[in-house]
Amino acid sequence: MATTEQSTTGSSTGPESGPAPGARRTADRPLLTGRLTGFGTTIFAEMSALAAETGAINLGQGFPDTDGPESVREAAVRAIRDGRGNQYPPGPGIPELRTAIAGHQLSRYGLHHDPDTDVLVTAGATEAIAAALLALVEPGDEVIALEPYYDSYAACIALAGGRRVPVTLRPRDGAYHLDLDELRDAITDRTRLILLNTPHNPTGTVLGRDELAAIAELAVEHDLLVVTDEVYEHLVFEGEHHPIAGFPGMRERTVTIGSAGKTYSLTGWKVGWITASAPLVTAVRTVKQFLTYVSAGPFQYAVAEALQLPEAYYEELRASLRARRDLLADGLTAAGFTVYRPAGTYFITTDIRPLGASDGIAFCRELPHRCGVVAVPNAVFYDDAEQGAPFIRFAFCKSPALLEEAAARLRRL
Ligand SMILES: Cc1ncc(COP(=O)(O)O)c(C=O)c1O
Repeated sequence: MATTEQSTTGSSTGPESGPAPGARRTADRPLLTGRLTGFGTTIFAEMSALAAETGAINLGQGFPDTDGPESVREAAVRAIRDGRGNQYPPGPGIPELRTAIAGHQLSRYGLHHDPDTDVLVTAGATEAIAAALLALVEPGDEVIALEPYYDSYAACIALAGGRRVPVTLRPRDGAYHLDLDELRDAITDRTRLILLNTPHNPTGTVLGRDELAAIAELAVEHDLLVVTDEVYEHLVFEGEHHPIAGFPGMRERTVTIGSAGKTYSLTGWKVGWITASAPLVTAVRTVKQFLTYVSAGPFQYAVAEALQLPEAYYEELRASLRARRDLLADGLTAAGFTVYRPAGTYFITTDIRPLGASDGIAFCRELPHRCGVVAVPNAVFYDDAEQGAPFIRFAFCKSPALLEEAAARLRRL
């Protein structure tokens, strides 16, 4: 499997599954823990294999086809040559990177964090998500997640023994929206935390200030924790990104997750982080130390430098991705899809029903054979696959020439 995205075509909603009572011997029980029953082969692996087999353009997986800034890559080479980070770096991350992350949160969002106590460097956002959920969720706790959801959420909630409670974003007027009443109704006395993702993969929704204020109020009212995945914070084309940690009462109850992968087009480096209050960081660090202990020494030095890039870098990234979004969105519209033009991220969700199809999984399996393009079915991001059945997702973090070729091929539909 090439990227962190690892959706499966089946999933488990809770800790109920496991070996039959009394099945103690290896021969009598499945090898995979019951907590992950249903989390089998990934749709991304399947679709990427199809792309390789058919020579199709792979717009399934979310990784750029160009590498991040040369100065940042050179910084990693320098670190390796200079012997910085070649041995275990400090558990919480190197001080240079923790200071740079705290500086980023302060200069962009006005959020004060002590680099020594409020920042933890992780092996990508993926480890941050896993460590946060394993640290904060007890078996039986309910975790509200925005659906469709990034696939590792479901797996990590299941590993923690939590119960996933989806709140579904629904398409309306060309975009996906959160229904705050549904969110309110999903809260019970077993709810432990709300797992947010904004900008949101796969719908491209960017939660607005009012929505975040309302979520924050609910979290405070019901004394809930919030874990917020903000890895696409710099990929916003419409509106603005607001970290929920900045809303009243949220500072002490929010774990904010960031990553260098998406912002600097370096998804293979796996440098992520959390920022939170010291007690929350301590809890997450306690788990993280037993998952990877530390990670990516030299890359940490390079990402510390990346975080000092001038504003022009981010503006250029946004402008270039916005142009590519429009290129692919227009191509998909011309090909007959209903397009939900994303306000953020580098994914476009489409509806295949205008093309006379309604089963996204079957459609994606056929697409490379029909016209040489690979996408992924959104059904795998839902508890109730029916809800996501007619939607499929394309990634546009690819070169304009490749996107143009993909659009031309899709017009054959
Ligand atoms: C919403 C979301 N969170 C987290 C990740 C993983 O980030 P990382 O590569 O830093 O582990 C991804 C990657 O696709 C993502 O889409």
